[in-house]
Amino acid sequence: MQIVRIGYSSRGIMQGGQNPDKRYILATGEKAVSRLDLLERIFGPATRHLLSAAGLCSGLRVAEIGCGIGLTARWVSAQVSPGGSVAGVDSSTEQLRIAEKSGAEAGITNLSFHEGSAYETGLPRDGFDLVYSRFLLCHLDDPLKALAEMSSLLKRGGILVCEDHDDGGIFTEPPTQAYKRLVEISGTVNRSHALDAHIGLKLPRLFREMGFSQPEVKVNQVALLRGEEKRFWELTLREAAPAILAAQASTSAELNVICEEMRKIAQDESILLMLARVTQVWARKT
Ligand SMILES: C[S@@+](CC[C@H](N)C(=O)[O-])C[C@H]1O[C@@H](n2cnc3c(N)ncnc32)[C@H](O)[C@@H]1O
Repeated sequence: MQIVRIGYSSRGIMQGGQNPDKRYILATGEKAVSRLDLLERIFGPATRHLLSAAGLCSGLRVAEIGCGIGLTARWVSAQVSPGGSVAGVDSSTEQLRIAEKSGAEAGITNLSFHEGSAYETGLPRDGFDLVYSRFLLCHLDDPLKALAEMSSLLKRGGILVCEDHDDGGIFTEPPTQAYKRLVEISGTVNRSHALDAHIGLKLPRLFREMGFSQPEVKVNQVALLRGEEKRFWELTLREAAPAILAAQASTSAELNVICEEMRKIAQDESILLMLARVTQVWARKT
């Protein structure tokens, strides 16, 4: 398996302007692995259900955009066998190195990884039966442009599948200061990067704007009382600290207090954490 570099000029800058790697607010590479593994534990079951409901089966040619360390792509590669293949695209070399190594160690031969931008993947037009993204659009300042790129990769009759979250689904019962501040801080950071904290709920409308006239929709609200998964936002906040401080959305001292409160909430089974609301949308290209 080899990482193919596409979508960048020889100076490492995306042809469209800025290098997306520089704008991504979370960690990449080894520093991102434990959080992405936790993310997969939390959201993986619903993702597998979604992709199966959307028609994933053997023989399909699939592209995953913003594939991260390849956790979903690896599962998809087994589902499309025999006869199918998966191309994973991400803007981070570090993520792709891990994805490639894990794929090779697992002996997977129908999976390739490509370094590129979601706005200009460099993958063949009309070349795929199913194109998928998870938690990518919430990191992009022009999600419609990425959706247009994903649509252009699909053959006629191919299926576009996207899932993404919105901050409105994050809260605790009873309410806690830590989670109230998390949503406020996230809002400030997102605004400073021109990102949409509510992209998930807008997906059905964006699909229609892209010409997918009959999108299907499902909402997955993750609720937790216990377990390592309940620390997801604490770990995310720690990872996003440099971007939070740069946006002046909080201070190091406040982040420490919030993370400590989140750690205690994770151990307190009397507090219900609504971890995330994920909107899943899929539609066929006509
Ligand atoms: C939150 S992670 C999700 C990874 C994976 N989809 C998953 O759910 O496990 C977002 C991924 O999008 C990638 N990314 C961010 N901006 C991008 C862009 N403009 N083009 C391509 N990938 C991008 C990041 O490098 C990161 O791997």
